[in-house]
Amino acid sequence: MAETCRTKLEAAVLILSFFFQSGIIIPISSECSGEECRSIVFKEPIQDKVIKGHLIRLEEVPHQGSCNVLCYMEPSCVSINVGPSQAKGGNYICELNNASDEIPGSSYLQSKEDYSHLSIENPCSSSPCFNNGTCRAGYTDKGFRCKCPLGFTGVHCEKACSLDFEDGIGRWKMTGRAFIYQPTFGDNPVARKRESAQLQGNWWVGGAEKRTSESDPAGGECRSIIFKEPIQDRVLKGRLIRLEEVPHQGSCNLLCHKEPNCVSINVGPSQGGSYTCELNNASDESPSSFNLQSKQDYTHLSIENPCRSSSCFNNGTCQAGYTDKGFRCKCPLGFTGVYCKRACSFDFEDGVGGWEMTGRAFIYQPTFGDKPVARNKSAQPQGDWWVGGAEKRPNESFPVGGQHPDEADKPHGTLTSLCFRIVGKNISFLIGGGCKVNEVRAELIVNNQIVRKETGNCLENMTRKSWDVEEFIGQYAQVKLVDETSGSWGHINFDDLKGDIICPHDFDGKN
Ligand SMILES: *[C@@H]1O[C@H](CO)[C@@H](O)[C@H](O)[C@H]1NC(C)=O
Ligand SMILES: *[C@@H]1O[C@H](CO)[C@@H](O)[C@H](O)[C@H]1NC(C)=O
Ligand SMILES: *[C@@H]1O[C@H](CO)[C@@H](O)[C@H](O)[C@H]1NC(C)=O
Ligand SMILES: *[C@@H]1O[C@H](CO)[C@@H](O)[C@H](O)[C@H]1NC(C)=O
Ligand SMILES: *[C@@H]1O[C@H](CO)[C@@H](O)[C@H](O)[C@H]1NC(C)=O
Ligand SMILES: *[C@@H]1O[C@H](CO)[C@@H](O)[C@H](O)[C@H]1NC(C)=O
Ligand SMILES: *[C@@H]1O[C@H](CO)[C@@H](O)[C@H](O)[C@H]1NC(C)=O
Ligand SMILES: *[C@@H]1O[C@H](CO)[C@@H](O)[C@H](O)[C@H]1NC(C)=O
Repeated sequence: MAETCRTKLEAAVLILSFFFQSGIIIPISSECSGEECRSIVFKEPIQDKVIKGHLIRLEEVPHQGSCNVLCYMEPSCVSINVGPSQAKGGNYICELNNASDEIPGSSYLQSKEDYSHLSIENPCSSSPCFNNGTCRAGYTDKGFRCKCPLGFTGVHCEKACSLDFEDGIGRWKMTGRAFIYQPTFGDNPVARKRESAQLQGNWWVGGAEKRTSESDPAGGECRSIIFKEPIQDRVLKGRLIRLEEVPHQGSCNLLCHKEPNCVSINVGPSQGGSYTCELNNASDESPSSFNLQSKQDYTHLSIENPCRSSSCFNNGTCQAGYTDKGFRCKCPLGFTGVYCKRACSFDFEDGVGGWEMTGRAFIYQPTFGDKPVARNKSAQPQGDWWVGGAEKRPNESFPVGGQHPDEADKPHGTLTSLCFRIVGKNISFLIGGGCKVNEVRAELIVNNQIVRKETGNCLENMTRKSWDVEEFIGQYAQVKLVDETSGSWGHINFDDLKGDIICPHDFDGKN
């Protein structure tokens, strides 16, 4: 993960540094998709000046232009200070700032010899975001986008509650499973050759639907199966979904088609003159080899069944005849992706994922391996990767034993998870490190409020702690790791957030 990012960054620096001579950044299409694409324009450099007090972070860079790229890649960066580096080799110091020279009511520019300051043209200087939304310059055709706090939506975070579902289900409360994939994009039943749902706008609540993003195939619920040759005087037993009486043999094929788990049928004579139709959830090729048995006057028909090779992980149910792969996996709660391989990434095995960082405490996270072992302690992480606020081992080949270069306890910062949805009573996680809850902690945030706090035991090793969240079932939440002390035990360890949570649709992967 870290490696991929680094490779990407270097590529971007190489490709883009050419353009910085003109002061203009041209976003590369491979770096961005849809509305996440950032496009910023730097104004003329101002010599011997810097902006102070709004540092996001400081980096050493090989060229001045690399600093522009770093700013481009950091969503909250709106200006940079570039200066000479003390380090040998003639590199530059690059300071990324979250304020630009246009921020009203103040003049942040201060003199500093040999430095130059570059601000971008900053639409955020007019404070377009309401309700404590965070403005990010360079996005969308408006030139900015607002990151809204939970409970607010809309371009300017001006909408407190969504009644038209255009911005998601907002604060609607959910129980059960009927609405877990809502809202639905587009007039999806149309694609299933039903009558139109005649929705308003692009999004609506369709209890039978699943099309949680524009890129989900419309009519993803459409099934396409192919029956093989009938086998006379044979049936498949022991895997009956249900039995129906049908007027024609062909009606049985149709019933099978409409039943997502049906992969074979037995058709036989009925007492009443029409046919008996048995729908089965295994076919003649299924692995557990349900041999066909003799039964006179019956016919067995299996479909061509891609599910025989059990393609779904994590106990997902394979359903034949869907998507261009010929099957789809119905995933249990907490798993997503085509093969149900993706869990909400809250165990850090694939990096910090969408967790958002402020400050410096977590800049080297996640940490590989049970690294404090090198200091003769154990953090007892789950898997290979975890968050250790005092650690610096950002990859496997990095030497074991080093600490955060700012010192173990000194740096402050936060690390905030993606929004997830609470679907049951219990959330648990591993936590270690400091033990003063007002200094270092994990917070649960629901509706913009801190509703739970937990801290470590002043031991490096992590122990599992849990929160009772029954009162928040159906709501969105985030976990935020907070380190706001530099004193003794001023760091926090954290890993493996799990329990009754699911990823909301915005973050569902397509694997
Ligand atoms: C590991 O991290 C170090 C420091 O960030 C870096 O220099 C090195 O190239 C990384 N190695 C791999 C294999 O990613
Ligand atoms: C900008 O960064 C400073 C730290 O340098 C921080 O205190 C401040 O909250 C940040 N402001 C915004 C709007 O992010
Ligand atoms: C915005 O933040 C300020 C300061 O934290 C707080 O007093 C105010 O209530 C917040 N406004 C909203 C709408 O959340
Ligand atoms: C198939 O149906 C049988 C009942 O006939 C049931 O016991 C079994 O769990 C079902 N298997 C699957 C994979 O749905
Ligand atoms: C899958 O189901 C089996 C049997 O119910 C269970 O033992 C196993 O833990 C489940 N696996 C996952 C990843 O949920
Ligand atoms: C850590 O423990 C090992 C064996 O238990 C010992 O050899 C080593 O000297 C210890 N290191 C430190 C820094 O205490
Ligand atoms: C919550 O889940 C954790 C981990 O499975 C478990 O240790 C804890 O006892 C559970 N809490 C409750 C109240 O069920
Ligand atoms: C946690 O670490 C302490 C000190 O290193 C040790 O005494 C204790 O046994 C450890 N706890 C567990 C559960 O391993």
